[in-house]
Amino acid sequence: MTALDTDTQHVLPHPLVDVVQADVSATDLGTAEYDGVHARLVLIHLPDRREVLGDLARALKPGAPLVISEWDCDYRDLVLDAPSRADGDLIDKYVETLISFFETIGMDSTWASKANRAMREEGLEEIRTVTYAASSAGGTGTCLLNATVSQMVEGPLLAGGMTPDEPAALPRA
Ligand SMILES: C[S@@+](CC[C@H](N)C(=O)[O-])C[C@H]1O[C@@H](n2cnc3c(N)ncnc32)[C@H](O)[C@@H]1O
Repeated sequence: MTALDTDTQHVLPHPLVDVVQADVSATDLGTAEYDGVHARLVLIHLPDRREVLGDLARALKPGAPLVISEWDCDYRDLVLDAPSRADGDLIDKYVETLISFFETIGMDSTWASKANRAMREEGLEEIRTVTYAASSAGGTGTCLLNATVSQMVEGPLLAGGMTPDEPAALPRA
């Protein structure tokens, strides 16, 4: 198995995994090389996602599966419960600000709904889209991810309209 990312620091070593630190847009993935490909939460960020999708399709052996997993950025009602209305509003503000920031650096927030057609246009067959949502209790799962990401992009969040105390308040929300 090959795990490819420009930033591989979080990929745990495993004897069956070749870790490749590379830009997928600039990597020759070959033709009919792989028994399957899973691109998770990457294509949405790439301005040249359609070219990379073509590369991924070509890299598959005949009949091999391609799995594309993406955030559905159009999904709303993200807050099912919160300590207070203000905490719920804070999460909503954070998500909107985060999406706006990522769009300024190449993300297509509508890509999840375009991927099915794009796969057909690349000649892939038996395409199926599954939309999935699951809740995370505060301090777990996606809530933890929000807290971590908000620290990583605190500058852009503040530039996008969040007040200095809001990113730090997200873990509580
Ligand atoms: C939202 S994270 C998803 C990480 C991982 N695929 C997962 O599902 O847990 C987006 C990842 O895309 C990587 N990435 C962004 N641009 C890339 C590129 N051009 N080539 C390879 N990886 C890239 C980032 O380094 C980051 O690890």
